[in-house]
Amino acid sequence: MRCDRLWTNARLATMRADLPGLGVVEVGAIGMRDGRIAFAGAAADAPDAADVIDCDGRWITPGLIDAHTHLVFAGDRIAEFELRQKGASYEEIARAGGGIASTVAATRAASEAALVRSALPRLDALIAEGVTTIEIKSGYGLTLTDEAKMLRAARALGDARPVAVRTTFLGAHALPSEFVGDADGYIALLCEQILPAIAAEGLADAVDAFCENIGFTPAQTERMFAAAAAHGLPVKLHAEQLSNQHGAALAARHGALSADHLEYLDEPGIAAMRDAGTVAMLLPGAFYFLRETKLPPVAALRAAGVPIALATDCNPGTSPLTSLLLTMNMGAVLFGLTTDECLLGVTRHAAQALGLSGSIGTIEVGKRCDLAIWDIERPSDLVGRMGLNPLHQRIWMGQTT
Ligand code: NIG
Ligand code: FE
Repeated sequence: MRCDRLWTNARLATMRADLPGLGVVEVGAIGMRDGRIAFAGAAADAPDAADVIDCDGRWITPGLIDAHTHLVFAGDRIAEFELRQKGASYEEIARAGGGIASTVAATRAASEAALVRSALPRLDALIAEGVTTIEIKSGYGLTLTDEAKMLRAARALGDARPVAVRTTFLGAHALPSEFVGDADGYIALLCEQILPAIAAEGLADAVDAFCENIGFTPAQTERMFAAAAAHGLPVKLHAEQLSNQHGAALAARHGALSADHLEYLDEPGIAAMRDAGTVAMLLPGAFYFLRETKLPPVAALRAAGVPIALATDCNPGTSPLTSLLLTMNMGAVLFGLTTDECLLGVTRHAAQALGLSGSIGTIEVGKRCDLAIWDIERPSDLVGRMGLNPLHQRIWMGQTT
């Protein structure tokens, strides 16, 4: 076998599930053919290649995956941040008509091109730290036209930059002002008209909802999930962020890819997630920015063997965060995750949270050749620092970008 390109003399953190820890190969090489990994293992066993790159002992990880973002939005919420600095809470601001509703107004007023333009700097910041796949949600449009516009903008970002974009329909993010007092009517519109049209256009890869006392009830969430299933779309859920609605267990019952946030998750929820293979997507940026004090039950998740992922939750209101490296540091410092858990959380487990375990997230033959090459002494350097970006090179589909 001859490869198109070979990266050799590298230390690999393969993240393979069948190897202990991070699946390290000390003197390793990765061969690429047609954009996929054709060899990964000891440098001594590596095949020939047209193009051989000596990595000088640098570390290579899979390309990083940010599997929960609201990257596309218009406007900002700095005024709201200032109100919170004066003592207002996120829920108070939301109930007073600010919060998500203010971003909805700005996003409805923006064109698709403007949404792409304003999201690009955020996307570029993530890419600069080795991100090769990103999930982007809708949820600031809340009409068919505006939700579709957001999802098209998300897909356009994937055309504008060398990165894979997965889109999630989050129509059930907030109740639009037109439906105040009629949340069930809005859910009916989402299930009967908006989602079918979004699905018909192939604009969404998954469906999400915000199950919360300031969001939607478990019963309304369940209706969204039933509609998602009718369109063959996998589901995930913003669950147990501000209170315990038993959303994680509900999500698990529907075979959710992930349940996200989870500060208020309880033991039955953990057991349900374990049994369903639902990933625990922890979002330390929102925890930090809202000065939340209730910690997600990391020890219990770990004990149950629930895979833990980490993401930025990049959004203007609760997590204006565009660094997956800082997210890992927060996961370790704020949530007590080990450095290995943080690294698996933005690679293998993040891939699982997107339903993409077969194609990304580890360095293994057959997977897409998405890599990050780092100037570091050891993988935990990526977690244990704040603000330094040691990315040497990013490889997306086998190409240096
Ligand atoms: O993940 N929780 C709901 N959705 C976002 C917040 C969105 C916003 O406030 O604009 C989150 O935290
Ligand atoms: Fe979110």
